[in-house]
Amino acid sequence: MCAGAGMGVDSGLPDFRGPEGFWRAHPPYRDLGLRFEEIADPVHFAEDPELAWGFYGHRLELYRRTEPHTGFAVLREWATRWPTRVFTSNVDGQFQRAGFPDDAVAECHGSIHVLQCTAHCGRQPWSADDDTVVVDPETMRAQPPLPSCPSCGSLARPNILMFGDADWAPDRTARQLQAHRSWQRELRLDGIRPAVVEIGAGTAIPTVRREAEIAAAASGALVRINVREPVVRHGRGVGLACTAIAGLTAIATHVGH
Ligand SMILES: NC(=O)c1ccc[n+]([C@@H]2O[C@H](COP(=O)([O-])OP(=O)(O)OC[C@H]3O[C@@H](n4cnc5c(N)ncnc54)[C@H](O)[C@@H]3O)[C@@H](O)[C@H]2O)c1
Ligand SMILES: [Zn+2]
Repeated sequence: MCAGAGMGVDSGLPDFRGPEGFWRAHPPYRDLGLRFEEIADPVHFAEDPELAWGFYGHRLELYRRTEPHTGFAVLREWATRWPTRVFTSNVDGQFQRAGFPDDAVAECHGSIHVLQCTAHCGRQPWSADDDTVVVDPETMRAQPPLPSCPSCGSLARPNILMFGDADWAPDRTARQLQAHRSWQRELRLDGIRPAVVEIGAGTAIPTVRREAEIAAAASGALVRINVREPVVRHGRGVGLACTAIAGLTAIATHVGH
């Protein structure tokens, strides 16, 4: 299955649809005049780390306390019946929180639950689980101490692909993608053509939509669940204009339990 930010909306998480959507979810940035692409610029870790960690620390704590909605349980149930893997641009770790093993998930933009060293001291990315970031909800600035590298003490940053991000350490994601591709190759060799369910993936950054379309090309079995952008090009699948929970529950009813 393939998922974008819309997958988390039914759990109460914001997607970042347009500047207005982003500012509704993060009102202080409206006053600062900062859009998603501008606050998610890695330059802030060098120039204003408290501003940078304000954004990511707020999201880290939000994702940590979020309970995945019932649609995730539907997907988990399918995964017990059919070989299943997840491809997602979400950095929120919600699939793992819902019980998917870490090695069944490919996070193409990285994960907020993993940190990397801004000084590139050679330390491999590590888990953020030992760090808590306190953010002032009015200024959206993080309070020191900020997460730091256990090896060299330099500032740490999330292992997420940001905008114009030459410093992202891509190895963890590259390994996940390699595992994903090997699995797809094995299915092909076994003559299995996968069905793809794509949920809440937008058109602004179409990585997940393209991945789903290509993965489903051989079978033609693509179900696109998306409240606002359900259209499937060339009739190569089915679009459901509904929420993640509604779509997944409806399909579960049809495939039976
Ligand atoms: N939770 C996260 O990890 C998170 C959240 C926001 C943004 N991001 C990052 O920002 C980028 C955003 O791209 P994107 O395409 O994932 O998100 P997007 O915000 O551009 O699009 C979200 C899509 O989900 C659909 N949607 C909204 N609510 C839905 C619901 N309840 N059920 C089903 N569909 C729903 C919308 O119609 C839209 O097409 C990605 O690069 C991602 O890494 C991540
Ligand atoms: Zn370091």
